[in-house]
Amino acid sequence: MVIEEINFECKDGRRAVLRSPRDEDAEGILHYLYVSAGETDFILRYPEECSKYTVEGEKKLFAQKNESPNEAMLVCLVDGKVAGNCAVSVYTNQKQRHRASVAIALMREYWNQGIGTRMFQEMIRIAEGFEDVIQIELEFVEGNTRAQHLYEKMGFRIAGVHPNAIRRKDGTLLNEYLMIKELKR
Ligand SMILES: CC(C)(COP(=O)(O)OP(=O)(O)OC[C@H]1O[C@@H](n2cnc3c(N)ncnc32)[C@H](O)[C@@H]1OP(=O)(O)O)[C@@H](O)C(=O)NCCC(=O)NCCS
Repeated sequence: MVIEEINFECKDGRRAVLRSPRDEDAEGILHYLYVSAGETDFILRYPEECSKYTVEGEKKLFAQKNESPNEAMLVCLVDGKVAGNCAVSVYTNQKQRHRASVAIALMREYWNQGIGTRMFQEMIRIAEGFEDVIQIELEFVEGNTRAQHLYEKMGFRIAGVHPNAIRRKDGTLLNEYLMIKELKR
Protein backbone atom coordinates (compact mmCIF):
# COMPACT_ATOMS: atom_id res chain seq x y z
CA MET A 1 0.00 0.00 0.00
CA VAL A 2 1.08 3.56 -0.54
CA ILE A 3 1.50 5.92 2.41
CA GLU A 4 1.54 9.61 1.60
CA GLU A 5 4.16 11.98 2.97
CA ILE A 6 4.30 12.60 6.71
CA ASN A 7 6.54 15.56 7.57
CA PHE A 8 8.08 15.98 10.99
CA GLU A 9 11.09 17.43 12.75
CA CYS A 10 13.94 15.39 14.22
CA LYS A 11 14.96 16.16 17.81
CA ASP A 12 17.94 18.13 16.46
CA GLY A 13 15.70 20.19 14.19
CA ARG A 14 16.46 18.46 10.88
CA ARG A 15 13.45 18.03 8.60
CA ALA A 16 12.27 14.49 8.04
CA VAL A 17 9.72 12.92 5.76
CA LEU A 18 8.24 9.46 6.03
CA ARG A 19 6.57 7.97 2.96
CA SER A 20 6.35 4.97 0.67
CA PRO A 21 9.49 4.37 -1.38
CA ARG A 22 9.88 5.73 -4.90
CA ASP A 23 12.25 4.64 -7.69
CA GLU A 24 14.42 7.68 -6.99
CA ASP A 25 15.15 6.28 -3.48
CA ALA A 26 16.78 3.06 -4.74
CA GLU A 27 20.41 4.29 -4.60
CA GLY A 28 19.86 5.79 -1.17
CA ILE A 29 18.34 2.57 0.12
CA LEU A 30 21.31 0.53 -1.16
CA HIS A 31 23.67 2.92 0.62
CA TYR A 32 21.64 2.66 3.83
CA LEU A 33 21.51 -1.16 3.66
CA TYR A 34 25.29 -1.37 3.29
CA VAL A 35 26.25 1.29 5.83
CA SER A 36 23.76 0.24 8.53
CA ALA A 37 24.92 -3.40 8.29
CA GLY A 38 28.40 -2.31 9.34
CA GLU A 39 27.30 0.00 12.13
CA THR A 40 25.55 -2.46 14.41
CA ASP A 41 25.51 -6.17 15.15
CA PHE A 42 21.77 -5.97 15.73
CA ILE A 43 20.96 -6.01 12.02
CA LEU A 44 20.79 -9.48 10.54
CA ARG A 45 23.02 -8.85 7.48
CA TYR A 46 26.75 -8.21 7.15
CA PRO A 47 27.81 -5.45 4.68
CA GLU A 48 29.25 -7.94 2.17
CA GLU A 49 25.88 -9.70 2.02
CA CYS A 50 24.39 -6.53 0.53
CA SER A 51 26.11 -7.10 -2.81
CA LYS A 52 23.07 -9.13 -3.89
CA TYR A 53 20.91 -5.99 -3.76
CA THR A 54 20.65 -3.89 -6.93
CA VAL A 55 18.91 -0.69 -8.01
CA GLU A 56 16.58 -2.67 -10.26
CA GLY A 57 15.86 -5.19 -7.51
CA GLU A 58 15.02 -2.39 -5.07
CA LYS A 59 12.67 -0.76 -7.57
CA LYS A 60 10.88 -4.08 -8.02
CA LEU A 61 10.63 -4.48 -4.26
CA PHE A 62 9.22 -0.94 -3.89
CA ALA A 63 6.58 -1.66 -6.54
CA GLN A 64 5.66 -4.95 -4.90
CA LYS A 65 5.29 -3.37 -1.45
CA ASN A 66 3.43 -0.33 -2.78
CA GLU A 67 0.98 -2.49 -4.72
CA SER A 68 0.45 -5.05 -1.97
CA PRO A 69 -2.83 -4.71 -0.05
CA ASN A 70 -1.31 -6.22 3.09
CA GLU A 71 2.18 -4.73 3.24
CA ALA A 72 3.72 -1.29 3.56
CA MET A 73 7.30 -0.16 3.36
CA LEU A 74 8.20 3.32 4.59
CA VAL A 75 11.39 5.18 3.90
CA CYS A 76 12.54 8.05 6.08
CA LEU A 77 14.42 10.87 4.37
CA VAL A 78 16.23 13.48 6.44
CA ASP A 79 17.18 16.63 4.56
CA GLY A 80 16.52 14.62 1.39
CA LYS A 81 18.81 11.68 2.27
CA VAL A 82 17.63 8.15 3.06
CA ALA A 83 18.05 7.65 6.81
CA GLY A 84 16.41 4.23 7.08
CA ASN A 85 13.26 2.32 6.55
CA CYS A 86 10.61 0.22 8.20
CA ALA A 87 8.01 -2.26 7.05
CA VAL A 88 4.75 -3.72 8.24
CA SER A 89 3.16 -6.82 6.81
CA VAL A 90 0.00 -8.68 7.63
CA TYR A 91 -0.05 -12.45 7.22
CA THR A 92 -2.39 -13.58 4.47
CA ASN A 93 -3.29 -17.15 5.53
CA GLN A 94 -6.68 -17.30 7.16
CA LYS A 95 -5.24 -18.82 10.35
CA GLN A 96 -2.66 -16.03 10.67
CA ARG A 97 -4.55 -13.01 9.40
CA HIS A 98 -4.90 -11.67 12.93
CA ARG A 99 -1.14 -11.02 13.05
CA ALA A 100 1.07 -8.26 11.63
CA SER A 101 4.85 -8.09 11.82
CA VAL A 102 7.11 -5.05 11.77
CA ALA A 103 10.81 -4.33 11.20
CA ILE A 104 12.88 -1.15 11.39
CA ALA A 105 16.45 0.14 11.00
CA LEU A 106 18.18 3.48 10.61
CA MET A 107 21.75 4.56 9.93
CA ARG A 108 23.66 5.52 13.07
CA GLU A 109 23.73 9.21 12.13
CA TYR A 110 19.96 9.24 12.62
CA TRP A 111 19.59 7.28 15.86
CA ASN A 112 17.97 8.93 18.90
CA GLN A 113 16.21 11.60 16.85
CA GLY A 114 12.67 10.35 17.45
CA ILE A 115 12.44 8.81 13.98
CA GLY A 116 11.90 5.28 15.29
CA THR A 117 9.08 6.54 17.51
CA ARG A 118 7.42 8.28 14.56
CA MET A 119 7.83 5.18 12.38
CA PHE A 120 6.21 3.01 15.04
CA GLN A 121 3.26 5.38 15.44
CA GLU A 122 2.64 5.05 11.71
CA MET A 123 3.17 1.27 11.55
CA ILE A 124 0.75 0.76 14.45
CA ARG A 125 -1.80 2.99 12.70
CA ILE A 126 -1.42 0.91 9.52
CA ALA A 127 -1.84 -2.38 11.41
CA GLU A 128 -4.91 -1.03 13.21
CA GLY A 129 -6.43 -0.36 9.79
CA PHE A 130 -6.80 -4.11 9.25
CA GLU A 131 -9.91 -5.19 11.06
CA ASP A 132 -8.67 -8.78 11.51
CA VAL A 133 -5.34 -7.80 13.08
CA ILE A 134 -5.29 -8.18 16.85
CA GLN A 135 -1.55 -8.23 17.49
CA ILE A 136 1.70 -6.85 16.10
CA GLU A 137 4.93 -8.81 16.40
CA LEU A 138 8.66 -8.18 16.10
CA GLU A 139 12.00 -9.65 17.12
CA PHE A 140 15.12 -8.05 18.55
CA VAL A 141 18.60 -9.36 19.25
CA GLU A 142 19.81 -9.75 22.84
CA GLY A 143 21.56 -6.60 24.03
CA ASN A 144 19.76 -4.16 21.75
CA THR A 145 18.62 -2.01 24.65
CA ARG A 146 17.76 1.03 22.53
CA ALA A 147 15.41 -1.00 20.37
CA GLN A 148 13.92 -2.78 23.40
CA HIS A 149 13.29 0.54 25.12
CA LEU A 150 11.55 1.92 22.03
CA TYR A 151 9.41 -1.20 21.62
CA GLU A 152 8.36 -1.23 25.27
CA LYS A 153 7.52 2.47 25.02
CA MET A 154 5.30 1.65 22.04
CA GLY A 155 3.42 -1.00 24.03
CA PHE A 156 5.24 -4.22 23.13
CA ARG A 157 6.15 -6.89 25.68
CA ILE A 158 8.47 -9.89 25.50
CA ALA A 159 6.54 -13.05 24.64
CA GLY A 160 9.30 -15.54 23.97
CA VAL A 161 12.94 -16.26 23.36
CA HIS A 162 14.70 -17.93 20.45
CA PRO A 163 17.93 -19.28 21.94
CA ASN A 164 21.11 -18.94 19.83
CA ALA A 165 19.22 -17.34 16.93
CA ILE A 166 22.26 -15.28 15.89
CA ARG A 167 25.87 -16.37 15.45
CA ARG A 168 28.39 -13.62 14.84
CA LYS A 169 31.58 -14.08 12.81
CA ASP A 170 33.55 -14.43 16.05
CA GLY A 171 31.30 -17.32 17.06
CA THR A 172 29.31 -15.45 19.72
CA LEU A 173 25.80 -16.81 19.99
CA LEU A 174 22.96 -14.42 20.81
CA ASN A 175 19.31 -14.96 21.62
CA GLU A 176 16.51 -13.28 19.78
CA TYR A 177 13.43 -12.12 21.66
CA LEU A 178 9.89 -12.12 20.31
CA MET A 179 7.74 -9.18 21.35
CA ILE A 180 4.05 -8.65 20.78
CA LYS A 181 1.66 -5.74 21.14
CA GLU A 182 -2.02 -6.61 21.49
CA LEU A 183 -4.32 -4.10 19.85
CA LYS A 184 -7.37 -2.78 21.65
CA ARG A 185 -10.38 -3.77 19.53
C1 LIG B 1 16.54 0.84 17.23
C2 LIG B 1 16.18 2.05 16.37
C3 LIG B 1 15.27 1.62 15.24
C4 LIG B 1 15.46 3.07 17.24
O1 LIG B 1 15.12 4.19 16.46
P1 LIG B 1 15.46 5.66 16.98
O2 LIG B 1 14.99 6.62 15.97
O3 LIG B 1 16.89 5.69 17.35
O4 LIG B 1 14.52 5.72 18.27
P2 LIG B 1 13.91 7.00 19.00
O5 LIG B 1 14.88 8.13 18.89
O6 LIG B 1 12.53 7.24 18.52
O7 LIG B 1 13.82 6.46 20.49
C5 LIG B 1 14.94 5.91 21.10
C6 LIG B 1 14.63 5.73 22.59
O8 LIG B 1 15.64 4.86 23.15
C7 LIG B 1 16.28 5.56 24.23
N1 LIG B 1 17.65 5.05 24.23
C8 LIG B 1 18.71 5.49 23.52
N2 LIG B 1 19.77 4.72 23.78
C9 LIG B 1 19.38 3.79 24.67
C10 LIG B 1 20.04 2.71 25.31
N3 LIG B 1 21.32 2.43 25.08
N4 LIG B 1 19.29 1.93 26.17
C11 LIG B 1 18.00 2.20 26.39
N5 LIG B 1 17.32 3.20 25.80
C12 LIG B 1 18.02 3.99 24.96
C13 LIG B 1 16.12 7.01 23.90
O9 LIG B 1 16.25 7.82 25.07
C14 LIG B 1 14.70 7.02 23.34
O10 LIG B 1 13.77 6.90 24.41
P3 LIG B 1 12.66 8.03 24.74
O11 LIG B 1 11.88 8.22 23.48
O12 LIG B 1 11.86 7.41 25.85
O13 LIG B 1 13.44 9.24 25.12
C15 LIG B 1 17.47 2.71 15.78
O14 LIG B 1 18.26 3.20 16.81
C16 LIG B 1 18.26 1.79 14.87
O15 LIG B 1 17.98 1.68 13.69
N6 LIG B 1 19.27 1.07 15.44
C17 LIG B 1 20.10 0.18 14.64
C18 LIG B 1 19.35 -0.94 13.96
C19 LIG B 1 18.45 -1.69 14.91
O16 LIG B 1 18.82 -1.98 16.03
N7 LIG B 1 17.27 -2.01 14.41
C20 LIG B 1 16.28 -2.74 15.18
C21 LIG B 1 16.45 -4.18 14.95
S1 LIG B 1 15.29 -5.11 15.95
